[in-house]
Amino acid sequence: MTYKIAVLSGDGIGPEIVKQARIVIEAVAKKFGHDFEFTEALVGAVAIEEVGDPYPAETHQLCMNSDAVLFGAIGHPRFDNDPSAKVRPEQGLLAMRKQLGLYANLRPVNTFKSLIHKSPLKTELVDGADFMCIRELTGGIYFGRPQGRTEDGKTAYDTCVYTADEIERIVRLGFEYAGKRRKKLTIVDKANVLASSRLWREVAQKIEPEFPDIEVEYMFVDNAAMQIITWPKRFDVMVTENMFGDILTDEASVISGSMGMLPSASIGIHTSVFEPIHGSYPQAAGKNIANPCATVLSAAMMFEYAFGMMDEGALIRKAVDESLEAGIVTEDIADGNKAYSTSEVGEWLTDFIQNA
Ligand SMILES: NC(=O)c1ccc[n+]([C@@H]2O[C@H](COP(=O)([O-])OP(=O)(O)OC[C@H]3O[C@@H](n4cnc5c(N)ncnc54)[C@H](O)[C@@H]3O)[C@@H](O)[C@H]2O)c1
Repeated sequence: MTYKIAVLSGDGIGPEIVKQARIVIEAVAKKFGHDFEFTEALVGAVAIEEVGDPYPAETHQLCMNSDAVLFGAIGHPRFDNDPSAKVRPEQGLLAMRKQLGLYANLRPVNTFKSLIHKSPLKTELVDGADFMCIRELTGGIYFGRPQGRTEDGKTAYDTCVYTADEIERIVRLGFEYAGKRRKKLTIVDKANVLASSRLWREVAQKIEPEFPDIEVEYMFVDNAAMQIITWPKRFDVMVTENMFGDILTDEASVISGSMGMLPSASIGIHTSVFEPIHGSYPQAAGKNIANPCATVLSAAMMFEYAFGMMDEGALIRKAVDESLEAGIVTEDIADGNKAYSTSEVGEWLTDFIQNA
């Protein structure tokens, strides 16, 4: 069987990091005798430039017809510095999530032995931290309407909307993942202030009795933000709405030591998307210095989640662990030692896999 992978590299460092993930996938495929077919498509600022649309219909069609999507990052300073731009790269990301029905973003947060010293947090706090943050991805304030400004331009508004069905499907996923792990679920909301959060709590409390072996706790987002950095080991699975998840997972990246190390999987109704949690890091674009590991580890998640190929995923993780141990790392985690380029890290990982 040939697995079809849509490759959406996007902007900034996107093409450089995706290239390394791709050679790693090819090495794994060769080792295990799998057949992958890669097809590239436009997304983000580069798609706006070429066809005037950050998520063109052809790209969507390709994603729909593929078995998995490997995604880099989108975003360009030209748009970041121009709040008046009507067509924006981020719209491409949101459109992809909405049209593919990607309602859940799974973000594992864990530590790497040889990187623990990189965390600004004390070693004893982060050593052994290992939790899964499940972020709702197609609802909430990023999608809610109305959104805009009053005619005089002096008042702006966004709307946070959640339906009970949207909440139920993601909270259920949270319970299911907790069941596969240490059986503890933390539901993060702001139910003391927001009506949408109160509905989250109500729906979650209704589902709770169906999962009697899961220990459930409800936590306000401000408290969760504090506990992630003061006691991260207390978490097993965390489920939360779109914007809270966006912010909390960036915060949680300090536990791993670098934004360049955190992968994610976006799953839902149609084809799943595997993408690093970081953005297009425009300052590094074209310099061959960005850390490719978040994207490479997203490829590991692709093997595991999209294809059920656990040994293949495990080999990629082992390669990344070994590269860290051997100090074959990019400048963000080199800690004053020799820094390797993006492509050197990718090639080292590929060699490791070939020789494993
Ligand atoms: N999913 C996405 O595509 C996504 C996510 C977030 C931001 N963005 C976009 O990316 C652009 C830049 O945003 P930003 O600067 O806030 O976030 P960013 O994640 O691109 O970069 C923030 C910082 O994280 C570090 N970093 C990120 N990726 C790294 C890597 N692979 N290796 C080493 N260090 C890395 C760098 O220090 C960088 O300055 C914006 O246009 C934004 O809209 C896109």
